[in-house]
Amino acid sequence: MIMKPMVRNNIFLNAHPVGCARETQLQIARADALGAKLAASAAAPRRPGRVLVVGCSTGYGLASRIIAAFSYGASTVGFSFEREPTAVKPGSPGWYANRTFDAEAASRGLFSRTFNVDAFSKEATGLAISAAREGGFAYDLVIYSLASPVRVDPETGVMYRSTIKPIGREYAGKTVDVFSGAISEARILPADEKETAETVKVMGGEDWARWIDELEAAGVLAEGAVTVAYSYVGPRLSWPIYRDGTIGRAKNHLEASAQAIAKRHSARGLEAFVSINKAVVTRASAVIPVIPLYVSTLFKVMKERHIHEDCLDQIARLFDERLYRKDGTSVPLDAEGRIRLDELEMGTSVQEEVSKRLAAASEENLATIADLDGYREDFLRAHGFAVPGVDYDAEVDPLA
Ligand SMILES: NC(=O)c1ccc[n+]([C@@H]2O[C@H](COP(=O)([O-])OP(=O)(O)OC[C@H]3O[C@@H](n4cnc5c(N)ncnc54)[C@H](O)[C@@H]3O)[C@@H](O)[C@H]2O)c1
Repeated sequence: MIMKPMVRNNIFLNAHPVGCARETQLQIARADALGAKLAASAAAPRRPGRVLVVGCSTGYGLASRIIAAFSYGASTVGFSFEREPTAVKPGSPGWYANRTFDAEAASRGLFSRTFNVDAFSKEATGLAISAAREGGFAYDLVIYSLASPVRVDPETGVMYRSTIKPIGREYAGKTVDVFSGAISEARILPADEKETAETVKVMGGEDWARWIDELEAAGVLAEGAVTVAYSYVGPRLSWPIYRDGTIGRAKNHLEASAQAIAKRHSARGLEAFVSINKAVVTRASAVIPVIPLYVSTLFKVMKERHIHEDCLDQIARLFDERLYRKDGTSVPLDAEGRIRLDELEMGTSVQEEVSKRLAAASEENLATIADLDGYREDFLRAHGFAVPGVDYDAEVDPLA
């Protein structure tokens, strides 16, 4: 078949197999090139060696796994939940990314195991434990990077759903259709208590804590291991729908869980952090109202100032400047004990400029105030389209 992008309401309905593979290879090539710089940290007291990534196939999780393996030479084990291809329907982007990752790792003699299984299940933790035992190692870094709409509690079998809603009042804000450029007003009714509690169940820290507890109980966490989960704060204008909404409640729980996890496992020197990362274009972020409009405006401002970063740039910085510092000093944290990688996004002057532009945003001036083309390109590339070097007029076999 010949594949063209199919997108509805900022949700991608397909993915290009060759493009997804090529995009992953391009990220790996960047991580390779960064290796020399990051490997200079080899003298540092610690570096990632045996890395588990929960949510490894796209976005921040994939970037984490790529930097760990291809910049630092780490062995990696990854978990994600991706749709497999059939003869007539392509798989989801992460399915192809995982396959490419494993092939590239194997070609360089790097240990990698990838599991396409529900990370919220006991089966998943069991597989991570077996993989470590078979490999004869213990994990020294566990990255938790899930973004999921549902979770089945492995103890009770109850399914919970996460929602992106405000709490206590209706939300109204501008949002943009990424492909048509049409701006409309999104109105979202407030969540009820059940929806809020369910979102915390899915996107809070309960499952992260379960992973760490089970890995530790099985003896596959190294002494002094580090675990990091990802979060977002974002601009004030998004707080009613994000930070003060259902998802923010979940992120508060995730952040509190870091402290609880570290305390529970302090005897063996485990460190647990939440890293607040910058806004990027991923499958998860495109569906949050107001975020694509904000992100495309942010991109324009950050690119004008030559401070733009994508997932790979962020994670390279997380490893090099936060977790594995050359001088061996401890991880720098904010007043709430969190790692901050969003300091360039959240800088006062950047935020003032973005707010000013957003207040005046219209369909007529969008091309000048925002980088919708850049947003669209990132979104296309995350699904294997618009990737340099790929012939999109060629026949492609979803299974090949
Ligand atoms: N995108 C952003 O702008 C942004 C900014 C800051 C922080 N974050 C945070 O980073 C984390 C990852 O988000 P992302 O944007 O990279 O998302 P993403 O959609 O690109 O990746 C999500 C990953 O979770 C996996 N996953 C989902 N459900 C699963 C399940 N049941 N079992 C196994 N794997 C499952 C997917 O396969 C994928 O690998 C989230 O916590 C998010 O809040 C994102």
